[in-house]
Amino acid sequence: MSNKKLIIPERIVTVDSEERILTNTAVEITDGTITAFIPLEKFDVKSYEGEVFNYPGLTLVPGFVQTHIHLCQTLFRGLADDLPLLDWLGQKIFPFENAHDKNSLRISAKLGLNELLSGGTTTLLDMGTLRYQEVVFEEMIASGIRGFSGKCLIDENGIDPKFKNDTGSELKYQRELAEEFHNSDSGRIKYGFAPRFVLSCSEELLKETKAMMHDFPGSVYHTHSSENKDEVAEVRRRFNKENIEYFNSIDVLDENTVLAHCIHLNSGEKQILKNKNVRVAHCPSSNLKLGSGIANIPEYIKLGISVSLGADGAPCNNNLSVFTEMRLAGLIQKPLHGADSMDAKTLFKLATIEGAKALHLDNEIGSIEVGKKADLVLLDLNSPLHSMSGGNDNIYSDIVYTSNSVDVNAVMINGQWIIKDCESLVYDTKELISEGKSELKKLLTRADSVK
Ligand code: GUN
Repeated sequence: MSNKKLIIPERIVTVDSEERILTNTAVEITDGTITAFIPLEKFDVKSYEGEVFNYPGLTLVPGFVQTHIHLCQTLFRGLADDLPLLDWLGQKIFPFENAHDKNSLRISAKLGLNELLSGGTTTLLDMGTLRYQEVVFEEMIASGIRGFSGKCLIDENGIDPKFKNDTGSELKYQRELAEEFHNSDSGRIKYGFAPRFVLSCSEELLKETKAMMHDFPGSVYHTHSSENKDEVAEVRRRFNKENIEYFNSIDVLDENTVLAHCIHLNSGEKQILKNKNVRVAHCPSSNLKLGSGIANIPEYIKLGISVSLGADGAPCNNNLSVFTEMRLAGLIQKPLHGADSMDAKTLFKLATIEGAKALHLDNEIGSIEVGKKADLVLLDLNSPLHSMSGGNDNIYSDIVYTSNSVDVNAVMINGQWIIKDCESLVYDTKELISEGKSELKKLLTRADSVK
């Protein structure tokens, strides 16, 4: 027998091609897929054969998509503040990641997943870490989230020579993981090939990884690029090229490539991104906190480059809220390019349908439409901090500029409730905190080289 659910919210922000906002309408979900919009005027809810979830006052939106996250770093929140990228990596992040054992990695992933889910993120692209990557996949599967992860690849490391593997074992382990986890849990989990960045990867590793990707259709190629001026200068010194020019010269750029940051680009590089249909994962909080710079996102959007949003990792943000990223993505552009350079609706779309497009999942998620997966979020926009208008007109403004994770009342993925009445059905948050504290203490004793 099919499993039917009916959600009756105050309004539905569909993000469909007409950008409809529906009221007096229920959404029907059958076996995890959205099967109908039902106008309520002439509908007898009492005789409905299925579970009915009444949410008067709440706003239904598509589950949010974040296209650049480091779950392995959640445990390091607050331990790496006020440093620029290369010092941040060398003094803190690489030694911390190198000190992970399976238990610390597991709780780091769980803390990150709990924060993302309770804040309405239903799909993520994660960068993984150097060892025990299967733990990240296991926790993503157990959490119910949709998304990609992959073993973060490092076979060269001038920043922290202790934190790397040899090329052959990187490629071997990567293939084993992709074989085991790509399309696991009925396709909800996919492989995201993850060479860390130019400065940590040999040309062989970058190219062989791209070649391997073709054996795993639906996977993506995910790396960092052009984030920091010292990083860009070092790439230029080594290769006499800019990051994007270098990636292009070794033929790893296409529509399946997701590049995090892309701040320091010349006009030729922007044209390459456009021509190769590369996806940019914009991380405004991280880019500000690491002092990296401000990517010219309005220009990228005008050029037709795919842009979506990511909170990056907890130690460079220091939170994983998609609401913070939407808000900042707007605010940082306004003094530079004008108050109308990024409007609330555009920002909301970057975190929903544009994220889905970046990952080639827009046939499945990113909007509320019949035939798509039921990845849904219910927002309570009725607090005294929200606008008093209560209508549809400024709904994007209320979500993007005013709301935060605390306004998420419920989250559903694939038709399954993950958060209900602001409570996680997956995690005991108190337990996560206690385990997180205990594992961090042990990790810090292992990471004795951290300055
Ligand atoms: N570049 C290489 N590794 C990282 C990382 O972990 N975070 C960020 N923000 N940039 C990177």
